[in-house]
Amino acid sequence: MKANKILLVFIISMNFIFAQKSASTIILNVDECKDTISRHIYGQFSEHLGHCIYGGIWVGEDSPIPNTRGIRNDVVAALKKINIPNLRWPGGCFADEYHWMDGIGPRDKRPKMINTHWGGVVEDNSFGTHEFMDLCEQLGTEPYICGNVGSGSVDEMSKWVEYLTFDGESPMSKLRKENGREKPWKVKFWGVGNENWGCGGNMTAEFYADNYKRYATYCRNYGGNRLFRIAGGPYEDDTHWMETLMKNVNSSLMQGVSMHYYTVRDWGNKGSATDFDESEYFTTLQKCFAIDNHIKKQITIMDKYDPKNRIGLMIDEWGNWFDVEPGTNPGFLFQQNTLRDAITCAVNLNIFNNNSGRVKMANIAQMINVLQSLILTDGSKMVLTPTYYVYEMFKVHHDAALIPINYESPMYQLDDRSVPSVNVSVSKDRNGKIHITLVNVDPNKEIEVECNIKGVNKVSKGSGRLLTASKINSYNPFENPNSVVSSDFSNYNVNGNLVGIKVPSKSVVMIELN
Ligand code: AHR
Repeated sequence: MKANKILLVFIISMNFIFAQKSASTIILNVDECKDTISRHIYGQFSEHLGHCIYGGIWVGEDSPIPNTRGIRNDVVAALKKINIPNLRWPGGCFADEYHWMDGIGPRDKRPKMINTHWGGVVEDNSFGTHEFMDLCEQLGTEPYICGNVGSGSVDEMSKWVEYLTFDGESPMSKLRKENGREKPWKVKFWGVGNENWGCGGNMTAEFYADNYKRYATYCRNYGGNRLFRIAGGPYEDDTHWMETLMKNVNSSLMQGVSMHYYTVRDWGNKGSATDFDESEYFTTLQKCFAIDNHIKKQITIMDKYDPKNRIGLMIDEWGNWFDVEPGTNPGFLFQQNTLRDAITCAVNLNIFNNNSGRVKMANIAQMINVLQSLILTDGSKMVLTPTYYVYEMFKVHHDAALIPINYESPMYQLDDRSVPSVNVSVSKDRNGKIHITLVNVDPNKEIEVECNIKGVNKVSKGSGRLLTASKINSYNPFENPNSVVSSDFSNYNVNGNLVGIKVPSKSVVMIELN
């Protein structure tokens, strides 16, 4: 009887161990590299919305919060560590009601406006063009400015380009000099409106395409500053919008088309950022994985009209959108950020890397205090979110060669639904180091991954990083800011050109191979 009991316990535990593990094989075709993962896929977005700019970035020169010319030092230091390649500003929907001339000159003389999209608050324009360019210089990042098409004019946008980038003598360069900036700046990336099918003017695709050409024509290249003009593109899989633009505008006027996609359960009922169960986690994953199909649909159209691949797909707004935190202004879009956000962030970035033949930029929405943020602030306090650590781990891919891969993933199943448990992208940097970024979305099972590296005889073990936590909804509260942080990871072995990695449940892993 006792022996039977022991046998039963043994069988149950073996089943349990078996059920907790799963395996996947990935083939890396190192000798077939063709595309480069643009560093701009790791771009950021900062809008005049809630506490993104005011409080998150700008505290003003007289603030007790340590700052340099009004810009928070703690935020700049944290962002410098992840080498952000570009920063989109001033919106979003705000861009199509922003008049840049209101944001230059002495701050106490700048006119105020109502931020009608975001909480109806008064915008005092204290953070304007010069402050934004100072922020970019402090961060060492490239500015990406979005012009006003919805309520602005061709003349207004054309003058903004002239103000920022013209080196000779002109009314706009004179004004810039009077405002304290002698030398022009370099500003390559310009967005021509934002979501012009919606908050940016409720236009038809045809009307926007014609208007795009007017705006883009008068945004000029001055001196050595070559513009990269980006059209306001479709949402999700709106292929009509993309087709209309691609058919009507050529690559001499349009170097990029944007696409937006938010991971949202239901626009009328988005769900809590922190209080969710496994079923809801699963729904978020399904919505997140769907972006790959949307991207591929848009790429098919771009390939048809631009077979030489001159126009980039710029996913300049993406991320998780949940309900605002209880008690906060609904117009400020402030949400907490958990391990779930880190996992979907890593899945998205792997998808963008794997589509980098056409995807040339992506900007998570948004950098600070709005939607899926990298940083949250509360007065003088600052926390780095789980999403921040994904950017820290993935910076190895910036401008690296994408290594094509073939793999089969075990499935993560819940009820009658399933998604692949493993999500991955791989690159080779200019020093020949290979970096593998893996996500195991399954919250219950460790996965053993075997990588077979074709095209090299032998690799050796480099460093590794891991991001996980005890629960899928673990996060970094202000009172305990280091609950979810990345750590060193060495649970992998190398044998010739074979690499075995044990990827913990609900985790993101980065492996370096020499
Ligand atoms: O990121 C928040 C908003 O979402 C942006 O302003 C807009 O472009 C999008 O609808």
